[in-house]
Formats: sequence, structure tokens, C-alpha cells
Amino acid sequence: MGPGDLKQVISSLVPTDENIVVGFEKSEDAAVYKINENEAIVQTLDFITPVVDDPYLYGQIAAANSLSDVFAMGAEVKTAMNIVGFDRCNIPKEALGEILRGGNDKIKECGGVLLGGHTIESPEMYYGLSVTGIIHPDKVLRNNSAKAGDVLVLTKPLGMGVLTTAIKRDLLDSDTMNEAVKIMAALNHKTSQIMREFRVSACTDITGFGLLGHAMESCNDDISLNIHANEVPMLEVAKQKANEKIIPGGTIKNRKYLEEMIDFKNEIDFATKTLLFDAQTSGGLLVSIHKEDAKNFLSKIEDETFGYAKIIGEVIPKKDKAIIVE
Ligand code: CO
Ligand code: CO
Repeated sequence: MGPGDLKQVISSLVPTDENIVVGFEKSEDAAVYKINENEAIVQTLDFITPVVDDPYLYGQIAAANSLSDVFAMGAEVKTAMNIVGFDRCNIPKEALGEILRGGNDKIKECGGVLLGGHTIESPEMYYGLSVTGIIHPDKVLRNNSAKAGDVLVLTKPLGMGVLTTAIKRDLLDSDTMNEAVKIMAALNHKTSQIMREFRVSACTDITGFGLLGHAMESCNDDISLNIHANEVPMLEVAKQKANEKIIPGGTIKNRKYLEEMIDFKNEIDFATKTLLFDAQTSGGLLVSIHKEDAKNFLSKIEDETFGYAKIIGEVIPKKDKAIIVE
């Protein structure tokens, strides 16, 4: 669903409870509920249809995607449960086993435990996790609390929406496919842990609404975000494919909904602009971090992020538009 539609649908459901630290009225990554003075649980769920043919890799990517919202809040994963839609007449049982093994490997990688799950018959395959994490109630990192003067770091390159669309149409060479899979299957866990050593004012992960959609949700009444289009990490092949008009529906929807709200200062080439709106699967973290800490942060996450992480802009006092792209 697009960001506009979703807001309308959930607006009447806003809950009240004194222990809610983060509810869903502000489009944050996960819900946070205080258990006592020192502990809050972080809850989120997500599932996706296959993005690659290999069931083990699909399981890894879907799990990394589901776990990511916990890391975006600065929390640690404790437990997870599988959510599966599966067509047992057309897909062999072994494939399901491989999907779940891929997911479980990712849960274990970040120190979590798989506790069960639920499978239904469904003509369309989907898989993901319901995840519970834990955090100190005062240490929750929100998506919309960025401070003017901070810089913005993006930890994974854009283009996964375009590339997974190319994969589905069998239009991608195996080197690029392996690179895309490596990036999507990578957990944001270590990056999140390292981030917590620094002065970070806000964080979110980049998924279906694309960089600019999630950046939009990160804005508040005091700030705008200034993004340097040419500094944003993007996979070169994704740009080529975008120029060949291999563009997923979600990316087109994002652009339609968001473009008017963004101040594009310069002429930006079609491929770059498309990728700024591209719907990501298991994308990176967008971190608002103190200017003086950014270099150190980048060098500490270099291996985790395969060298892709970059400073892509800065948080500035409120302008006419929430986001400026230069
Ligand atoms: Co998120
Ligand atoms: Co999510």
C-alpha cells in the first residue's frame, strides 16, 4: 500500500495506554511498550513475496527485512515467529524448509530465537516474521526526532526494487544478482549496535516507501532534510535498468505521491531520480548523526556495509518543503 492510503486506513485506530512509548500514529518503524522502568518490548511484523528464486536466499532476505525495524529503533531482537503463505500443490515441501532455514539463520545471527509460527494455504507465496525486541524505554531511537545540524548517513545502496524486478523478468547477470542478494540479506544489526555508540538523534530503515518516502516520515515541524542526489549510494546496474524502464509499481506509486512535496533544486537524471523513490527490500538505515561523529561512524561500519555507507545530506532548519534534493 502507498504511504497516503495507509495513513487514511489506520487513522481511526489510535490506542491510548500510559505504557505506550511508540504507537502507530506517527508511522514509526516498530511499536514500543514499556514493561517496567528499565525494559520495553519492541514489536513489529513484516512479510514479502519472493524476490529471488533460491528459497534459502529468499528466506534470508525476508527475515533480514522483517528484523530491520527492530534495529532501526536501536533495539535488540529477542524472539521471532514465522508468518508463511504457501501453495503446497505447486511448491515442493523442501523449498519451504529452505525458506525457513534461511530465516532462522538470520534470526540466530542477531542473537534471536525462533519460537514458532503459522502457515496458511495461499496461492501467492509469502514469508516474513513477527519479531519481539527489547530496549531501555529511554533509549528508543525514533524516526522523526532528527536535529538541525546533524548529517544523514545511508548505510546500503539504493536500487533493490529495480533489480528485483529485473530478476523476476530474468534480465539480470549473475554477478549483479549476487551483489543485490548479499546487500538485501545483510542484517542492519551490527550497524545499529555501532550507531548506538554515537550521538544519533533519529534513525529509520529504508524499505517500501523508498529513500524519499522514509525521509519524508522522518521530518518534523522544526526541520527539513537536504539530500545531495549525487552522494546517495546506488548500484550502477540499477541505474541502467531504470533507464531501460524496468521499474516496479511501488516505485512509481512512491514518486506519484511524494514528488510534489519535494523541492528538486537541480535537474536530476531520470535514473537517479527513479532510484531516490525506489521501493527497497531490506534496505539500509538512514541515520541522523552529529556532524563530528559521522566520519568515525562510517569507518566503524565500513566492513558491515561493504563500503557502501555514505553521508548523503544534512538536517537543516525548516524550509518551505520538508525535503530538498540538490
Ligand atoms: Co521501517
Ligand atoms: Co517494515
